Amino acid sequence: MKIRKAVIPAAGLGTRFLPATKAIPKEMVPIVDQPTLQYIVEEAAASGIEDILIITGRTKRAIEDHFDKSYELETELEKSGKLDYLSTLQKISNLANIHYVRQKEAKGLGHAIYCAKFFSENEPFAVLLGDDVVDSETPCLAQMIDQYNNCGTSVLGVQTVPDSETSKYGIISGDKVGDRLYRVHDMVEKPAPGTAPSNVAVLGRYIITPDIFRCLEETTPGAGGEIQLTDALKMLAQKEDMYAYDFIGRRYDVGSKQGYLEATVEFALKRPDLNQEFSNYLKRIVKTL
Ligand code: UTP
Repeated sequence: MKIRKAVIPAAGLGTRFLPATKAIPKEMVPIVDQPTLQYIVEEAAASGIEDILIITGRTKRAIEDHFDKSYELETELEKSGKLDYLSTLQKISNLANIHYVRQKEAKGLGHAIYCAKFFSENEPFAVLLGDDVVDSETPCLAQMIDQYNNCGTSVLGVQTVPDSETSKYGIISGDKVGDRLYRVHDMVEKPAPGTAPSNVAVLGRYIITPDIFRCLEETTPGAGGEIQLTDALKMLAQKEDMYAYDFIGRRYDVGSKQGYLEATVEFALKRPDLNQEFSNYLKRIVKTL
């Protein structure tokens, strides 16, 4: 079945980024001049997704405003002849059909995904985490959909991480069955240091079959007292085949300060309008370190 729908959970509290995230959704914090969430919605649209459900919460209204049409601003830009900005804004509201649902309490990623049950309509769907940005030639989600089209079952986006970082992620155990493909046997959420079954970490992109909702119904609160998507996926992997794909691209965890800073610097360096002045500035300050 074609992957037409994507879910972007964006209802987390963003505690690692307080106080910025007290009133501003962390997904709206900009990388250079574009909110994080816009990069993610653009990735989904460029991968052929037609409908996107964003899981939001209280304090997240700015997300809906951002992807809506802005009549007043557009009229002003047109009047003042700022047509480049006008076309930038118009593109945002035409990226995809965007729907919203509120997760009333931040009870974990698994709980957030369960809010998408009505939206999935029994179709497999994509998940892109609202604070994971991937910079790649072929959009990361398009790579994942390609794998799904071959496997016909759930595919998790993974990359190898150093030993020191396995305790930050969901880690899979499985067999390597292709150049970048694993057959998943099991997985564990944030394993204690030294106990991870592998170095292969699940990083913010998934294609999931609708049976996940039955698994989520049976999932009890796990690590941190939250309903963990990893626990439900572990259950799903016992019921049906599941694969993991080592996607090609540079992934940034922009929900962490370090990841956010790296993304900001590297995205700025890639921008033709900023590169020269900004790289000269970086060279100057690096000398003083
Ligand atoms: P994170 O764990 O990175 O987000 O969840 P968080 O909980 O906001 O982060 P901190 O630790 O408090 O800083 C990954 C994704 O899942 C969403 C988040 O918005 C993020 O995009 N999420 C998480 C939800 O939608 N609901 C939740 O209950 C938890």
